[in-house]
Amino acid sequence: MDRIRVRGGRRLKGTIPISGAKNAALPLMAACLLTEESLRFTNVPGLADVMYMAEILSQLGVSVTRRMDVPVGQGGTMELKARGRPQSLATYDTVRKMRASFLVLGPLLARVREATVSLPGGCAIGARPVDLHLKGLEAMGAEIELAGGYVLARAPDGLKGAEFAFPSVSVGATENLMMAATLANGRTTLVNAAREPEIVDLGNCLSAMGANVSGLGTSTIVIEGVKELHGAVHRVLPDRIETGTYAIAAAIAGGEVELSGTELDLIGALVPLLRKSGTEIDATPNGIRVSRGTGRPRAADVRTEPFPGFPTDLQAQYMALMVVADGTSVIQENIFENRFMHVPELLRMGADISVHGDTATVRGREKLKGAPVMATDLRASVSLILAGLAAEGETIVNRVYHLDRGFERIEAKLGACGADIERLTT
Ligand code: UD1
Repeated sequence: MDRIRVRGGRRLKGTIPISGAKNAALPLMAACLLTEESLRFTNVPGLADVMYMAEILSQLGVSVTRRMDVPVGQGGTMELKARGRPQSLATYDTVRKMRASFLVLGPLLARVREATVSLPGGCAIGARPVDLHLKGLEAMGAEIELAGGYVLARAPDGLKGAEFAFPSVSVGATENLMMAATLANGRTTLVNAAREPEIVDLGNCLSAMGANVSGLGTSTIVIEGVKELHGAVHRVLPDRIETGTYAIAAAIAGGEVELSGTELDLIGALVPLLRKSGTEIDATPNGIRVSRGTGRPRAADVRTEPFPGFPTDLQAQYMALMVVADGTSVIQENIFENRFMHVPELLRMGADISVHGDTATVRGREKLKGAPVMATDLRASVSLILAGLAAEGETIVNRVYHLDRGFERIEAKLGACGADIERLTT
């Protein structure tokens, strides 16, 4: 099983190309089930989760053509074509490995009028139910049964437009319902919908496919159903979590990096915190420039929230920065329970953190010491690499398959900026 070795203490200098967003690519790929014409994507990240989604879609009868063997950061291309009638069964074996595969439910129900999809698995970060996806589809007239770990959904006369108010914001449920609504009969209004950039990206692609979508980026999305959708070409949005992760890497290690192919607006909630920490961060014509001189970063509190608030997917990385900051910070996790699994590993490296419920108090330390640590989920694993950049000596991150789900060639990207980082394959 691969491990990553980081030797800390090197400042970063260079350019890091930012890949297409995993969390945009996965729902975009599921949207291919809505049409029999082909959907072609560029800027597709070469990630395990993307390959896995392609595998699930091909099991549903979608033909997948991809070109992913491109230089780091250039972005692959993928063409998906769901000709004929897609299969309507997504089995436990396929869905359990990745929660986002549940996103096939809405499009299948809309196009095939029935779907049997296993309840999902995914990262071990709390219960992560799918009740909002199901309630929304029921509001659109779907008949839903749960049996043997499967969701059996039917809409024999097609889905009907409806108004659905989310009791709490859900990115995945908003995406599932948006896709379902494109082919429903009449108007669907989603109230308290998610506003994440990945939602806007999906909505733009659906519009390019002939859907009638308005209100993207606001908390009320309105979709007028159409009879059918057609093919489209779409460029996947840059990955804001990868962007934020490398911005934090530069703040931790010091030095100056340019993040190319991305935008400052995508990490709006992180920017003021980095500036407070003493890191310079500005937009450039190509992306973002991040630099920090010598001296310790300064501590600042944060709480995670739905977009445009601070993303839960950057919480672990921000904690790695606070662990070496000057001062004490309070980090509150409001989106997922059980999302502090990186804490015991950071403690092994000499961090001073205490956790009470959803709140972590981090007392910054001048020095961390490298240690063997274990990745527990996608975002936790990258925070250990970031901490390793600041630690004295060697940090070995085990179980990096979590990392490969969401970060494309991290060792190549950081290594090209002078970090001492290597993948060990034995
Ligand atoms: C997506 C992202 C993930 C990110 C998360 C929050 C993808 C592929 N994944 O996950 O990286 O961390 O948004 O920004 O885009 N909930 C319910 N019932 C539901 C659905 C969700 O209670 O039916 C709860 C969840 O348990 C969680 C909260 O709502 O506490 C937010 O989850 P949601 O926004 O749905 O996250 P995902 O779409 O799974």
